[in-house]
Amino acid sequence: MLAIHQESLSSSDFERIAAYVFCRAGLRLTDNKRSMVEGRLRHRLKALKLATFEAYTDYVFGPQGQLESVYLVESLTTHKTHFFREQQHFDYLRQHYLPLWVDRPNNASRTLKVWSAGCSTGEEAYSLAMLLLEWNQYHQKIKFEVYATDISRAVVVKAVNGLYREAEVSDVPLALRQKYFLRSVANTNVVKMGPELQSCVSFGTLNLLNDHYTLPGRFDIIFCRNVLIYFDRPTEEKVINQLCRKLKPQGHLFLGHSESITGLNVPLDTLGATTYKLKG
Ligand SMILES: C[S@@+](CC[C@H](N)C(=O)[O-])C[C@H]1O[C@@H](n2cnc3c(N)ncnc32)[C@H](O)[C@@H]1O
Repeated sequence: MLAIHQESLSSSDFERIAAYVFCRAGLRLTDNKRSMVEGRLRHRLKALKLATFEAYTDYVFGPQGQLESVYLVESLTTHKTHFFREQQHFDYLRQHYLPLWVDRPNNASRTLKVWSAGCSTGEEAYSLAMLLLEWNQYHQKIKFEVYATDISRAVVVKAVNGLYREAEVSDVPLALRQKYFLRSVANTNVVKMGPELQSCVSFGTLNLLNDHYTLPGRFDIIFCRNVLIYFDRPTEEKVINQLCRKLKPQGHLFLGHSESITGLNVPLDTLGATTYKLKG
């Protein structure tokens, strides 16, 4: 029995897995990630009662493996996120972007469209919605829609449910928590996104590697933060160009703190660190 799940991942099985997740999700797994992959997939062997990683790779890439291939990608993707992560982007929107938006006369009748691409469990999208709801309380009102997508169905389900542990909302200022969140009576450790906030955000699944993004129309603002970091440079360039095609003229793209467009052939002007505007 002990031998089960102690089996290690051979380099040929690792390479099969790495090639698959690269092709399916753009995730780049270099050889130094082998023990991480082994650790993360061990629970899948256990769940499937398989004794070796070889049996696992045969299963996942065999005729019965379609559902398991979803779990495989889920297990190897990082979903780390939190409310108002990388605060400077929210400050930029509040202090620079939104005042300019309301000053443009044509915008009075327009809807500001925002997309959180690679939204994980929804904290980024709900933060954007809170920022806009707050703006509307104190300034000229803006009609807006927030869309949020991720490759992982599991995180999108959590985002739609809008249930978070108290510790997960600790980055949200108390005044906003009181205004936009509901507290469970049965479980005081659980917080739910309130109906006003939930009604502002539409969640769905979308693979950024797809050739066409099936989201309606184009966007004024795209947040694609801490997603491209797992891709290689050609994939990053391809995805950023696809995102640019989903931006409206003057549209803004926000990347994560360790991502940049340096050296990439993409139609963007740099406004500040990780903040870009569509050229032209
Ligand atoms: C580290 S989280 C970042 C969440 C949020 N944007 C933030 O900055 O806090 C990265 C997310 O990207 C998603 N992701 C990875 N590859 C993707 C792909 N090819 N298409 C869409 N989403 C992807 C993952 O499922 C994960 O939820």
